[in-house]
Amino acid sequence: MKFFIDTANLSQIREANELGVLDGVTTNPSLMAKEGIQGVENCKKHYVEICNIVDGDVSAEVIATDFAGMIKEGEELAALHPNIVVKVPCIADGIKAIKYFTGKGIRTNCTLIFSPGQALLAAKAGATYVSPFVGRLDDISSDGIELVSKIVDMFTYYGYPTQVLAASIRSTQHIIQCIEAGADVATCPLAAIKGLLNHPLTDIGLAKFLEDYKKVNG
Ligand code: G3P
Repeated sequence: MKFFIDTANLSQIREANELGVLDGVTTNPSLMAKEGIQGVENCKKHYVEICNIVDGDVSAEVIATDFAGMIKEGEELAALHPNIVVKVPCIADGIKAIKYFTGKGIRTNCTLIFSPGQALLAAKAGATYVSPFVGRLDDISSDGIELVSKIVDMFTYYGYPTQVLAASIRSTQHIIQCIEAGADVATCPLAAIKGLLNHPLTDIGLAKFLEDYKKVNG
């Protein structure tokens, strides 16, 4: 499973990248706003900065919700860097835009996926990725991981090449569940990725190794 980091924060992206296991980055308008990035040109500059840090796919989301607007924005975003993936919401014009981008060889991430039917439409339009939102389904007492699993099974059954990118990941446990569900990618907060490292037996074992080494070597 690939690891993407779900943030527009450059220092967190650098820290995750330095671990050596980062495969890409996802952003969205809320994450860009959280970093205080204002205006179209500043957003574009920020995406290029991210692409210069990470050697992997970087999702950049369109703001327009109409077909013509999405095409214009998406083409501008795709032209910024070869690693840009145009992120498009799962609405009717978004599906049309994904079909258009697919024909132009522009890679896409269909976002705000909350059902297998939405994922199927995006896959039929040729989306590179679909992003089911795990945490937001859990928030309403639904089952986000079950959705990831259903989409993985559907794409496998029908042979769609679209990758399942589990989004809205909130915890280390979500990451483990995504692995079990067969997600192609999980896009995660930095803390959830770092949480994978934690195990008390590792800490106890390491302390014992060092203690035993010191006994003999001083
Ligand atoms: O990738 C989508 C993600 O950023 C949404 O996460 O925590 O706002 O539901 P969250």
